[in-house]
Amino acid sequence: MVSGDRSDSLATSVGPLRLRNPVLTASGTFGYGQEMASFFDVAKLGGIVTKTVTMRPRPGNPTPRIAETPAGMLNSIGLQNVGLDGFLRDKLPYLAALDTVVVVSIMASTAEEFGELAGELRVEGVDAIELNLSCPNVSYGDGGQHVMFAHAPELTEAAVAAARAASDRPIVAKLGPDVPDIAALGAAAQRGGADALCVMNTVPGMVIDTAAKRPVLARGSGGLSGPAVRPIGVRLVYQLCAALSLPVVGVGGISTAEDALQYLMAGAHAVQVGTASFVRPTAAHDVLHGLQEYLQDEGSSVEALIGAAQRKGESNG
Ligand SMILES: Cc1cc2nc3c(=O)[nH]c(=O)nc-3n(C[C@H](O)[C@H](O)[C@H](O)COP(=O)(O)O)c2cc1C
Repeated sequence: MVSGDRSDSLATSVGPLRLRNPVLTASGTFGYGQEMASFFDVAKLGGIVTKTVTMRPRPGNPTPRIAETPAGMLNSIGLQNVGLDGFLRDKLPYLAALDTVVVVSIMASTAEEFGELAGELRVEGVDAIELNLSCPNVSYGDGGQHVMFAHAPELTEAAVAAARAASDRPIVAKLGPDVPDIAALGAAAQRGGADALCVMNTVPGMVIDTAAKRPVLARGSGGLSGPAVRPIGVRLVYQLCAALSLPVVGVGGISTAEDALQYLMAGAHAVQVGTASFVRPTAAHDVLHGLQEYLQDEGSSVEALIGAAQRKGESNG
């Protein structure tokens, strides 16, 4: 079991956000926290990131919207969620009572709406806001712009700036993997006033049902996650940390402490456990427990490990 200890060896910070340990849950893979509470004491985690909340409830995409793949899964859930009012009324009270950091993930169709949502979440129990700028499973035509926020630096900057202006909470900008220059997107988020970056969202992909001769997912394509995508996430974190001073939260394919260590050594200040929680509901707890053991064995600390591989890369020329 993970002890209730808040020893310095596990402590970390993501900009102004102080975390007792670096293990959070990834948006959309841990519900709103309460759903997972029967498996372990979720308050022991460094933080909980909620399912993405939108202004109004969303039913999500038609089924099928999940497909298994080697070492991963493909999903096209499409931001099914209870909407802002339902979240504030039915979900936040449980989270607010937990002694851990609560990060609310939000998604909007315009920069202005990101601002509105962030403003509405200036309430007790919300410790930080994560902007989902990179969901591959929704259409981006509704708000007058036709590309994903995280595909265009100017849209990323505008969405972050709107949230920044509306909220005093730490703002984390969540980026996606399918861009040619991740540092340009990170820099745009930084210009907008982000306190931290989170990489990565799922990787766009497709599975074909060869008997039916059509894509397995009703929407056609979906987002790939799980162990298969981990090297992509580690690379993105490494590149962002080499290029920018903003703290980065690493996510993608983490299911063991060893996986989390890769992200920390690439430069991440914290990590999120996603798909692994579907396979093993205690995955985030297990990652934390494994990290604790590793640090004890090594006589080291999370803060000492952050970016260790970056420094090694430098000294190797
Ligand atoms: C079923 C499912 C639902 C997801 N929903 C969201 C979401 O609502 N908001 C979000 O920002 N990311 C969402 N994600 C992406 C994860 O938060 C994470 O970025 C991604 O899955 C990579 O991490 P992993 O390989 O550990 O799952 C979802 C992923 C899955 C598998």
